[in-house]
Amino acid sequence: MTHFEIRPYHPSDLYSLYRICLLTGDSGEDASAQYRDHELLGHLYAAPYAVLEPDLTFVLTADGTPVGYTLGARDSQTFADRCEREWFPPLRARYPLPAVEDASPDAGRIRQIHRGHYHHSALAEYPAHLHIDILPIGQGGGYGRRLIETLLARLRKIGVPAVHLGVSPTNHRAIGFYEHVGFHRVPVDGVVFGMRFDG
Ligand SMILES: CC(C)(COP(=O)(O)OP(=O)(O)OC[C@H]1O[C@@H](n2cnc3c(N)ncnc32)[C@H](O)[C@@H]1OP(=O)(O)O)[C@@H](O)C(=O)NCCC(=O)NCCS
Repeated sequence: MTHFEIRPYHPSDLYSLYRICLLTGDSGEDASAQYRDHELLGHLYAAPYAVLEPDLTFVLTADGTPVGYTLGARDSQTFADRCEREWFPPLRARYPLPAVEDASPDAGRIRQIHRGHYHHSALAEYPAHLHIDILPIGQGGGYGRRLIETLLARLRKIGVPAVHLGVSPTNHRAIGFYEHVGFHRVPVDGVVFGMRFDG
């Protein structure tokens, strides 16, 4: 029987985080057929969190192999600012801006690397944000709830007042999951969920 475990992030997990991010990157499904460069999604949505906010990164393992993660930023504006200083500059040098007529998914992600992360002012009341991704082997067994509750407990402990997350409108499974585990819809553009810890 497969043994699942949730544990804090270790730097040796970084490659696995890139892999899990790619394999769940198409509204929860495998995005590897969409991208020529299999690292682009992880550069945006997994690695900077593990590197800049390692104490907010938790890993789900199956018989010792990472199969899921949750990670986040305690203050989205501070995180965006740190990404500008510490994360994106070498990536912008590695990935020059694509030609205007390049409409490939890779080009879209590279433009995102050049735009950087930003914190929408409409979400000022929800300073933290998070991501969660689990490979199929770990889905549906209660580990999503356990993972996200591990991160939520940590955010509460460090005094974060509220957290938000964005989800693709076509990711119905994740939307149902977030509603079920206690998130509420935040009335901003896109599908955004929030949770307050300060009553
Ligand atoms: C979305 C995801 C994190 C959910 O994790 P999971 O391990 O599949 O979910 P769990 O088994 O922990 O479910 C936890 C609870 O939510 C419920 N739930 C799960 N999906 C649900 C849904 N679509 N609708 C309603 N309830 C749902 C479960 O029944 C369970 O209820 P219980 O704890 O009261 O018994 C996981 O499926 C995943 O990583 N999917 C691929 C990547 C992805 O889409 N990430 C989100 C990107 S925004």
